[in-house]
Amino acid sequence: MKPIYIRLDSVASTNTYLTSRAADNLPHATVATTDRQTAGRGQRGNSWEAADGKNITLSILLRPKEILPSQQFVVSEIVSLGIVNTLDHYLTEAEEEISIKWPNDIYVGDKKICGILIENSLMGNKIVSSIAGIGLNVNQDRFLSDAPNPVSMAIIAGHEFPLEEVRDRMCEEILTLFDRFDNPNRYDGLHSAYKGRLWRRNGFHKFVADGMEFDAEIVDIAPDGILTLADTDGNHRKFAFKEVAFVL
Ligand code: BTN
Repeated sequence: MKPIYIRLDSVASTNTYLTSRAADNLPHATVATTDRQTAGRGQRGNSWEAADGKNITLSILLRPKEILPSQQFVVSEIVSLGIVNTLDHYLTEAEEEISIKWPNDIYVGDKKICGILIENSLMGNKIVSSIAGIGLNVNQDRFLSDAPNPVSMAIIAGHEFPLEEVRDRMCEEILTLFDRFDNPNRYDGLHSAYKGRLWRRNGFHKFVADGMEFDAEIVDIAPDGILTLADTDGNHRKFAFKEVAFVL
């Protein structure tokens, strides 16, 4: 499916732009995109850094037909896999794995190449709109913010990429996956694909919850996105997003 682009010269945040207009009957697959985002928003109230004209900063308006509010993690899985598939296409020479850091950061090796901010609007038992904000680092070669571990496609590959082509491919990939997986019969396959690309999916790693660090391994991610960890004593602990963080 082809995206319907709204190109903005400059905007505070493409997510905020679409959130305020999603109620105005904009159709599924509308994409607000800009080369200059002046107040990009990240997860956990953070800001999002992107040098003007260097990276992809856009938001895709999705209007699910089947995905229920209780299944909204499906949207995260679709968007994450769409970006991973896009990076698989361009970063064929990458020596490190392209993976998804639960719940939806995209990593190359131990570095973050893309952040996703999904904002849903619910009405009764329906998702009226799901706005998937994506910041993909494409051609930026230096990062100034205090983000712990940013990287870009250009830093990894050693050359720049055609921004519009990457953007079109990524949007089309996400929209194609969305058409396929906005279907309860297909959630299992989607969920397996998501789990198969998880960052640190094997072995023990450091996590922090309630200010306490501990070693644990990922046991499972439930279809609703809840993470189950096993600590070194074999105790299982379940976490929703924001209740636990990886120690980088
Ligand atoms: C994160 O913290 O990892 C999520 C970052 C999401 C950034 C993108 S850039 C386009 C869209 N508009 C925003 O204000 N944020 C998202």
